[in-house]
Formats: sequence, structure tokens, C-alpha cells
Amino acid sequence: MNKNSTPESPFERCPVTIHDSAEEGALQVAAEIAELIRERSGRRERTVLGLATGSTPVPVYRELVRMHREEGLSFADVVTFNLDEYYPLPRSHRESYWQFMQDQFFRHIDIDPANTHVPDGEVGREEAFAHCREYDAAIDAAGGIDLQILGIGRTGHIGFNEPGSGAESPTRLVTLNEVTRQDAARDFLGEENVPRYAITMGVGTILRARRIRLMAWGRSKASVIAKAVEEPPSDRLPASYLQGHDGVEFILDRPAAGALTRIVEPWRVDFVDWNPELIRRAVIGLCRKVEKPVLKLVDRDYNEQGLADLLTVKGSAYQLNIHIFNVLQHTITGWPGGKPDADDSHRPERADPARKRSLVLASEPQEDILGMGGTIRRLCEQGHDVTLAYATSGDLAVPDREALASLELTHELCPGATLMNGGVPLAELIRALREKDTLDEDGEALRAVKGAIREGEARQSMRMLGIHPDRLEFMRLPFYGRGRYRQFVATEEDRTAMVELLERIRPHQVFLSGDQADPASVTGMTFRVFRDAFRRCREEEQWPSDTYIWVYRGPTEEWGLDQIDMAVPLSPDELQRKLDAAFQHRSQHSQTSFALSEQSESWQRTESLNRKIAREYDALGMAEYEAIECFLRWEG
Ligand code: F6R
Repeated sequence: MNKNSTPESPFERCPVTIHDSAEEGALQVAAEIAELIRERSGRRERTVLGLATGSTPVPVYRELVRMHREEGLSFADVVTFNLDEYYPLPRSHRESYWQFMQDQFFRHIDIDPANTHVPDGEVGREEAFAHCREYDAAIDAAGGIDLQILGIGRTGHIGFNEPGSGAESPTRLVTLNEVTRQDAARDFLGEENVPRYAITMGVGTILRARRIRLMAWGRSKASVIAKAVEEPPSDRLPASYLQGHDGVEFILDRPAAGALTRIVEPWRVDFVDWNPELIRRAVIGLCRKVEKPVLKLVDRDYNEQGLADLLTVKGSAYQLNIHIFNVLQHTITGWPGGKPDADDSHRPERADPARKRSLVLASEPQEDILGMGGTIRRLCEQGHDVTLAYATSGDLAVPDREALASLELTHELCPGATLMNGGVPLAELIRALREKDTLDEDGEALRAVKGAIREGEARQSMRMLGIHPDRLEFMRLPFYGRGRYRQFVATEEDRTAMVELLERIRPHQVFLSGDQADPASVTGMTFRVFRDAFRRCREEEQWPSDTYIWVYRGPTEEWGLDQIDMAVPLSPDELQRKLDAAFQHRSQHSQTSFALSEQSESWQRTESLNRKIAREYDALGMAEYEAIECFLRWEG
């Protein structure tokens, strides 16, 4: 374990532990909980735990269940209080937090159900106030919470205490923030199905816990974590209230810690060894601060912004500027598969072999086009042998109404038709779908229909890019077919399927996403399946030593210019073509016209990101492009 290897930072207003991976962070929390339970049970005392739902605590629950099964950890003396519940929502609803806790934890351990408490999403409006008061009173009566675990939302919420919540707030009925509802849209198969309210423990209730462990995994949490930890507490960001608690600890994986000052600008925290990565980050950061392109920085800029040390180590501003200008210049290439017959000593990709076997891996359709549609087209046009592999069909993201529309059309054209393989008559499926509640679990036949819709969109999208559908491969990894959001478990079967693909293609280059993502997400899980499979190939075979792995970014992962190893510029026409191709994923369109004005469609976010990177390169004094797709080289 390599936790906390970076120095602690004066910028951080509460204790923070950084782990190499989410798994390690989760083990730390699970071990602490287990120790607490054992210690208190030994004294014949009960342990009161405050519990959270969502993706973040899932690995903690898995580890506690393992300890229960394999090490005899008993929960007989444990009392639990969950943070929150959607409102109104019956317990029996598959997305209720009550249900989540049964599935993820309670059903697998020896806890007395009477000792578990989750706010009641079914209580009438008039009784809600009293119910909340009773919830707080029940916590007090149990002796208060010994250890509270928390995740954090993109808004900075803890529990469902959205911005605006007071530090003293009690358990209460709250309205959910738009961003939070968007984040829950996938679970509820569309934002329109996400409840508007929730009952949540208050900030005041949470702060009364004796110990608090806030966990965060993945790059998408980095900016909110940096604010919660480094900015003064404010009701704009409820997690920042935790700073005032003397038993709090933030437990992060590296991507979630990625925006803390000790990571972004370690030279402000301690003496550093000025390696190439840090130098590049410092110079780019300096350009931003003084609003100058690289080649216009002068000694005074470095000195006045606390980088005198760097100047003394590396000579003058003049030398540093030219060096960084070249480094940046060398990341830009219109030849993502390498430029044949060219000197490649300063290019991101090798020139040989001139025709490469390129594997583009997407966790589900559309991820590839959003992340690297322009690059895919270039690779094909430049004659590489490109395979587009989709790890999953992404069927869980298709709303029922899309499936119904497709089935009704097919049925009208071919009355009496049956569904492939299963032989289910379409008419029967249509009838069942009309009666189905949006949140009822999809049966196998319906999942197959939805999967076919997404795979069809992938073909159409690639056709728009001018790419023959023969190049597409649908892997349908078992972890996805068996699971639901936040509850996927990858197994040997998934890794074997990935090894088989890699062995068959023996790619010279692989493009994929998700190395910085929450490991519980589909993209994070696909990345890990790939990583394990690739490592296995490398142990057994020679070819992987010659493979370059390029990571493209997902629409929510923000990378800094200091990290980019390859930047592929897009002309206005290329950008337009990419967006047209992305638009073909119609089942993924938002259903409200409001969404359009909010720029919340994925192709709109991608357009802004691609343009933003181009503007940032331009501001540093590089050529001015319309848009840029960017990649990190992953060293395995
Ligand atoms: C869940 C809860 C929320 C989540 C937060 C992060 O009980 O109270 O505050 O912890 O929304 O969600 P995930 O873990 O899914 O990223």
C-alpha cells in the first residue's frame, strides 16, 4: 500500500488520506469499521454506524461481507442509520435506498433487521416532519453515531444536503438539486423518473457523529473534493462543513485527489524534485496565471509567482520556455497512428509499422465517438486496420419508450414476427411493455431489444463517419448482462473474453477510456477488465511490449494540458462530422427541450470540451485549431 506518499499540505483544512486505488481506500474504511465493532462488542457495547448508498461505499460493503463470511465478523451488536431516502418512493421500489441496503449489505450479514434504519420514503407529507424528528431522536436514543461513512455529490452534497443547507440542519425533507437528479437519471432510466425530493439526515445530524469518513473515487469528484477540503466552509458546498469536525477524515483515490494543491502544485507545499512532468505543469500554470503564452514568459513572471526555485534549477526563463513550447508542440499530431516514413523521435506514435492494427475500445456505444470520433476517422483514412470494440451493449441506458417505439414499428411492418432466438412474439412483448412500470426490471427479451437499438445506433453513427459497420465488434461482456448500475461485478469470464479479443487482434495501439473513472462505473469497470487482461497477455506473450495504450477522456473527465501526450486537431468540418455521428445515438437524447438550452446533451458537452482544449493550446501560443481530441499514454 502506498497511501499518503505525498506530503501533507497546509492548504488542506482537514485530514486527507490518498490511496493508490479505490479498493485500498475501501479496505482502510472497512478495517476501521471492523475494528470498532470488535472492540465495542468485546466490551459488550453496541456499535452505531451511519451508512451511505450510491457507488462509493459499495467496495466497503463488499469487504465487510467478506469479513463476515471468512473471518466471522458479526453484526449482531450493530445498529445502523442510513443517511437518506428518495421521496416519495416505496421501499419495494428497485431504486429505493432501503432496497439498495438489503441488496448490497444487510441481506448478507447477521444484522437484526430491527436494528437497521432507513428514512421512510412512503410516509405521508403531513407526517414527514414528525418522522424526521423521530429519526434524529432515534439516533440520540441509540447513543449517537460512532462512525458515519459518506460519499460526496458533484454539488458538494453530503447525504442529500444540497447547497444552501445550514450547518445545524436536522433530518428533513429536501428538494433535490438539478445536477443530483441528472446524476441519478441513469438509475431511474431518465431524469423525468427521478423523484424530486428526499429525506436526508441534516448536516447537523451528520456532524454529531463521533467519527466521519468521507470517501471519493474517480476523477469526476476531484474538483468538488478540492473545494471541500481547501476552501473556507460555506453553505455553497455542504461537505466543507466537515472541516470543523475533529474526528473527520477524507479518504480518496489518486484521481479524486487530483485537484488538491499538493498534487497540482506540490512546489507550493514542499521542496520538489523538478521532474519533466512537474516542470510542464508549473509552466502551463504560470501561463494561465499571468495570461501569457509560453514564449512570452520572463524571469520576473517566474520569480513573482513563487517559481524562483525552478529558474535556479533549470537556468533561465528563455531556456525553460523553449523547452516547454517544444514539449507541447510535440504532443500535436494529425497522425494518431504514426506518420509513415517520418522521423518519429518527437512524435507521440511510432512511424512503424506504417499500417497498424488499432483497437478502439468503448465501454458502451457512443463513448468512442464522443471521446475520439475525429481520431477514429483519421485512423481509418490513414489506412490503419481499425477495430471498434464495444465492451457492453449499453442496453440499460435505453428508456422503455424507445424500445416500445421500435417494437411497434417492427410489428406493424412484420405482423406475427417473433424476437430473434427466444422466439417471443413481438405482440406479446409490446403488450408487456405497455403495462410495464418504467422501473420494473427488464427481462432478457427486452434487454436484447434495447441492446439491439444501441448497437444499431453505433453502426449508424460509424456510417456517418464513413466507416464500414464490419469494423464493429460487440463483446457483450457478462458483467454488464448480469448487473445493474453500481452493482456490477467483473469476473474471470469478462477477463477471458477480453484476453481473447486482444490475442486475436494483437493490436499495435489500443485506445480506451476510464483509467481515472470511479471503478464502479461501466467505463471504470471496462478499463479494469482491459488492464487485467492486457497484463495477463504481457506475462505470456511478446507482442504487448510493442503496444501503445492511449486513454481518451470521457465527457465528464477534465484533463489538464500538462497531462496530454497526444493532441489530435480537428478542422471545422471534422468536428461537424463527429458531432453528426454522435447525434445518431438517438436513444441517448434527453427528452426535454429544456435540456437543449442547458447544453446538457452529451454531444454538446463534447463539442465544448474539444473546443476548449483547442483554445487552451492557442492561449499557450500554439497554432489555433477549431477543436482538439486528446489522449494520455498509459504505461500499464
Ligand atoms: C447516498 C448519499 C449521497 C452520495 C453521493 C455520491 O446515501 O447520501 O450523498 O453519497 O451522491 O454518490 P456516488 O457514491 O454514487 O457517487
